Amino acid sequence: MSTVRVGPPPGGLRATITVPGDKSIAHRALLLGALAEGTTAVSGFPGGADVLATLGAVAALGAHVERTGDVVRLEGRGARLGEGVEASVDCANSGTTMRLTAGLAAGGTGRITLDGDGSLRRRPMERVAAPLRAMGAMVETTAGCAPLVVRGGPLDAIDWTLPVASAQVKSAVLLAGLRARGTTRVREPLPSRDHTERLLAHLGAGVAHGAGVVEVAGGQRLTARPVPLPGDVSSAAFLVVAALLVPGSEIRLPEVGLNPTRTGALTILRRMGARIEVVEPHEAAGERRGELRVAAASLRGTDVAAGEVPAAIDELPILCVAAALAEGETTIAGAGELRVKESDRIAELVAGLRAMGADADERPDGFQVRCGTRLTGGTVHAKHDHRLAMAFAIAALGATGPTHIEGADAVAVSYPAFFEDLERLARR
Ligand code: S3P
Repeated sequence: MSTVRVGPPPGGLRATITVPGDKSIAHRALLLGALAEGTTAVSGFPGGADVLATLGAVAALGAHVERTGDVVRLEGRGARLGEGVEASVDCANSGTTMRLTAGLAAGGTGRITLDGDGSLRRRPMERVAAPLRAMGAMVETTAGCAPLVVRGGPLDAIDWTLPVASAQVKSAVLLAGLRARGTTRVREPLPSRDHTERLLAHLGAGVAHGAGVVEVAGGQRLTARPVPLPGDVSSAAFLVVAALLVPGSEIRLPEVGLNPTRTGALTILRRMGARIEVVEPHEAAGERRGELRVAAASLRGTDVAAGEVPAAIDELPILCVAAALAEGETTIAGAGELRVKESDRIAELVAGLRAMGADADERPDGFQVRCGTRLTGGTVHAKHDHRLAMAFAIAALGATGPTHIEGADAVAVSYPAFFEDLERLARR
């Protein structure tokens, strides 16, 4: 396990950085491409450990995949995907791989075992097993967690209400619904990311949206089409906050995904006083994208309400870092889901920020962060969580002394070149 030392940079951050392709869309492009007829080319493929796990999953289900640089070509199997397949899939650290593959496997006729690392084995899987069972699949969990065994078969459509907004569960049910008899409906309490719905439409499927409900008819064919991935706004968010915090910074991040179900953190940062410019916004493959331009700014605290959480769920750790260096107090409510992510992000983030000198407290479902004295730096542990490793690294840029991040190699899950990019930004 690697330890990385990060200290305050000698001056402002200045560079143009191309962040990795969007991880959420990459998972879906592989899974839906596998279910499509024809060859799908996914370009801008990010290549982190999570999406490589999904590449392994679709290959195990019978799709032929070939990766050259940042392009993945896969030959879909259409409705025959997963027919009679007996396979084990290592989902590594990726909850999206496990939950979405469960949905895809439910509509096949094979027996698929899904397992992962220690962190993934602790995450709740009944939330996806229950709707798939209700559709007719046989899904066994291990005390509610992985390993999971999914035996697919003929499915019937369901009308399912999610207790908590979750794009992973919504997507798993929609993927199963594509091969079910009848029209499947998923209702969610707040809008979660809608990449699955957009990609389905891009591949020619009919998807209907109403207020808080999505529906898809079973038996539809998907037609392979190229999927150019935008940059991942969740990865970009770390660099955006870095530029805001380090005086004299000015950075450009070209072609970042700007799907409104993902840009909650940009809205919150703007409310805190950030100026984040979007240059040349446009749409491709059903997803909005554009260049982000960010300069250093003084930030003030804010209150993040539960309704804002789904569109900023993965950015809440880096928003807390911004809050720790902003004027005044920040509170975040309604984010209890963070306790069942790659780590308990509420407990571990607060522990790490406090070790660096921050004035931060846990709430059962969120955070309270006050601008204390300046961060001093210290030793923190990423707890096998990529977003914590990156959040601590950005906090370290705003500290007076050095920070040692243990387990920093966790960044490989979503942003393998993160520390190289950070170094490029800080180079004079
Ligand atoms: C994701 C959905 C979110 C998010 C995760 C990726 C996705 O999880 O936190 O990093 O790609 O669907 P939930 O659906 O569990 O909220």
